[in-house]
Amino acid sequence: MIKVEQTLKISKIKDGTVIDHITAGKAMKVLSILNIDEKSNSSVSIGVRVPSSKMGFKDVVKIENRNLEKFEVDKISLIAPDASISIVKDYEVTQKYTVELPSRIVGIVKCHNANCITNVKEPVSSEFALVSKKPLVIRCNFCERNMNEREILTSL
Ligand code: CTP
Ligand code: ZN
Repeated sequence: MIKVEQTLKISKIKDGTVIDHITAGKAMKVLSILNIDEKSNSSVSIGVRVPSSKMGFKDVVKIENRNLEKFEVDKISLIAPDASISIVKDYEVTQKYTVELPSRIVGIVKCHNANCITNVKEPVSSEFALVSKKPLVIRCNFCERNMNEREILTSL
């Protein structure tokens, strides 16, 4: 007997980037990290809380004709540490990798300490060390204040 596949499929893309295995519920934050909003003209498909054998539920974002910059991938790694990035050219996956939390997080997170030198004196760019992956904790190299996942999320 033919088994009918009952999973939700999002259409394949021709050229662009697929961000798969995003922590369930974080697709919207990924879009905001990538500056995709109602004013942008890119073609984007979004799957939210799609069933996944590996993760239970996951989010997926597919963007046509867009390559991600390193700082964008690093930001995504902070909110979706298991995300995979596939680069698609003419319907084929030409490159595929999993995001990785960098051990030094430079210039992408704003320190929560208002008096930190990175907030009061330009142009010192922010710099954090990775303290713990799960739960996510990073420490400012300037004021030594720790930031947790919730604080990081609001500052991205
Ligand atoms: N993909 C796409 N359009 C294409 C090719 C691939 O949207 N033309 C997507 C797939 O849907 C998947 C991701 O890119 O989300 C990676 O593709 P592939 O490695 O072919 O898929 P799987 O082996 O099923 O992925 P995984 O094991 O990572 O779930
Ligand atoms: Zn600081």
